[in-house]
Amino acid sequence: MNIAILGFGTVGTGVYDIIKKGNTTHTQNLTVSHIFVRETRTKDLPEMTANIDDILLNDDVDVVVEVMGGIEPAHDYILKALQNGKHVVSANKAVIAKYMDEFVKTAQDNNVDFYFESSVAGGIPWIKNLERSLRIDNVSSISGIFNGTSNFILDQMKKTGQPFADILKEAQDLGYAEADPSADIDGYDIENKLCISFNLAYNTSIKPSAELPCFGIRNITDQDINYFNELGLIVKLMGKSRRAQNEFDYVIEPTLYNPSQVESSINDNFNYASLNGDTIGELGFMGQGAGKFPTANAVVQDILDIVDQTPRVIPAEKSTLKLNTNLSLTDYL
Ligand code: HSE
Repeated sequence: MNIAILGFGTVGTGVYDIIKKGNTTHTQNLTVSHIFVRETRTKDLPEMTANIDDILLNDDVDVVVEVMGGIEPAHDYILKALQNGKHVVSANKAVIAKYMDEFVKTAQDNNVDFYFESSVAGGIPWIKNLERSLRIDNVSSISGIFNGTSNFILDQMKKTGQPFADILKEAQDLGYAEADPSADIDGYDIENKLCISFNLAYNTSIKPSAELPCFGIRNITDQDINYFNELGLIVKLMGKSRRAQNEFDYVIEPTLYNPSQVESSINDNFNYASLNGDTIGELGFMGQGAGKFPTANAVVQDILDIVDQTPRVIPAEKSTLKLNTNLSLTDYL
């Protein structure tokens, strides 16, 4: 199985390292044949190329791993790879939140797979388990801590009292934050991940909406954290969505929890992703939501699912659920 990696940043190098090490009989059967990098970058590995056609027009490439980030040219490259009969694995939540239907349909039309486990909640096998739940249940709500950077910042502010900017720098050095970390700290990264999750859960096609509340942690100060400490409460940046009859809504907002609540125990760069289904009830998953190897692990798991031909079903017909944009901020209290 020949794999081309588009983008060689934190996640791309993680995927390369895991495959090169070939620790298990599964990963031993994978080969990185190409790495697509910028023209200006020194080509210090023989697999590197700055010519995308070396990959997209190459019949020997079986799987394209898109870990470049951003909307274009990632959207264009994913589509062309699928149209040229290549399976695609992407960790790029921004492009998937915007174009998921187009990617899924193009993959189906060309009889190839499009997998995106790593785009939501890093190393947690969330998408897979969400789809698994949907084989039996209607999912009525999704909730969680979907951004490792903001969780790391809030946790460190509480534990060390260090200023926000210093901790953000540390999160960038650790490979948690995006190159432009504003989406991490302003909630838009969570909005993308929540959209991907509820579009699967509710079988809808909603893109991030400027009409619904999306708050981040940019304005949370040391004084706020001290005050929450005095109250015995812990703040977490949450993404929440729920459906009722023919409507659904969502919100991204900092939320206070008692220490006994599970959200309070999600520290460091960890994520927590939970759903509520008819028969399974509340089901939650925790694990590292950001960082080189946890995210790369989810990418490689997707590649192995393609190798194993694990079937996945995303219905072509969408539900008639409507997004309710008249959400009151107290609705989720
Ligand atoms: N910047 C993201 C985060 C990376 O901090 O959660 C994983 O999507």
